[in-house]
Parts: sequence; structure tokens; C-alpha cells
Amino acid sequence: MHRFIVTPDELGAGPGNKQGVRDLLTQGSLARDQERFAMPQEQFTDAIALLKADHRKVEDLFGKFEKASGSDRKWEIAQQICNELKIHAQIEEEIFYPACESAVEEDLYKEAFVEHDGAKVLINDIVETGGEGEFFEAKVQVLSEEIEHHVKEEEKPGEGFFAQARDGDVDMVALRDQLLARKEELMAQAENGGLPPAQLTAVHEEPA
Ligand SMILES: [Fe+2]
Ligand SMILES: [Fe+2]
Repeated sequence: MHRFIVTPDELGAGPGNKQGVRDLLTQGSLARDQERFAMPQEQFTDAIALLKADHRKVEDLFGKFEKASGSDRKWEIAQQICNELKIHAQIEEEIFYPACESAVEEDLYKEAFVEHDGAKVLINDIVETGGEGEFFEAKVQVLSEEIEHHVKEEEKPGEGFFAQARDGDVDMVALRDQLLARKEELMAQAENGGLPPAQLTAVHEEPA
């Protein structure tokens, strides 16, 4: 998913600067510059672009879940959805939301956490089912509806969470780098042994 190739143009050594290309090559520094310039964050212009790409990925996975036949395949996709959403919610809550707090209306800001918690309750439950049980598919369907609503609240043009955040005094490029670094950590954790159940932030579950 990451782009590791940088052209000489991007290094400021394009056709108009042949000497620059030669210098880079003769100094043996092209590889080092490629490493330095070709950080994965180039894939996203800013924090909001990164978060929107996550939204599209999860929407795609929900579509695949609906079309999939066979309980094994559905369970496989459900686990991918749950991991993606856990990571997405966590990086928003740890990094993006707090950075945007002063730019976003208080009601909308607080509702975002509560909506996340509603989704997390279902996510943790879905993971627990192991893909079994009469309500498994219904739970994934309702999760997709909850996420659809939440994504609309974030992306609504002009007045959504992202639009308000963008109007604030937030460095969205620096924020992208922080989000990406944390996302990569959590993705590695998901691959090496798995993520723990999602922690609720605002909603408290009744004691058993
Ligand atoms: Fe989001
Ligand atoms: Fe969110």
C-alpha cells in the first residue's frame, strides 16, 4: 500500500536539472534520498484524506460481507472489518479528535465518542461470536448502518466534523503523520497476536 518510488522530478532533479540527477547518482545519495522522501504518508495529502480512505475501505468490506457466500468467508471479512474499525476509532480518539476539539461544536464532538462506543459494543460482541450464532449477520448489518451514520456525521460537507476541523487552526499534515505512525503500530499489533477488545470511552456497560 505504500509508495516507495520517487522520481528524480520529485527530488528537484528533473529534466531541467540533469546536473542535479548526475550529482545525486554520483554521490550515491539517490537511494538515501528515496528513503527520506518516499515516506508512506505521501499517499495521503493530510489527516482527513487518510481518515476518509479508511472510511472507503470499510464500506468496501461491508459490501464484500453482504455479497460473500459461506460462513467462513463472512467470518473472515467480519474480522477484517472489526480490526479496521478498532484501529480507525482508536487513532481518531487518541489523536485526531483531541487535536480538533476546539474547532468542532461541542455536541458534535461528544456525539462522535458515543457513536464510536456504540459501534465498539457491537464490534467486541461480533469478535466474541467467532462468526457463529443466529444474530451474527444481523450484528454486522447493524454495525454497517451505525458506521454509515457516523461517517456521514464526519464527512457532511460544510458542517460535518471534518469540515469544522478543517476550518480550525489545525495542522492537518502534521496530524496525518501522527495518525499514520499510530496506525502502523496498531496494524502490526493486529498481525502479531491481535488487538485487545475495543475500550469504551463514554458509554458504561451495565455490570454483568
Ligand atoms: Fe472516521
Ligand atoms: Fe469517527
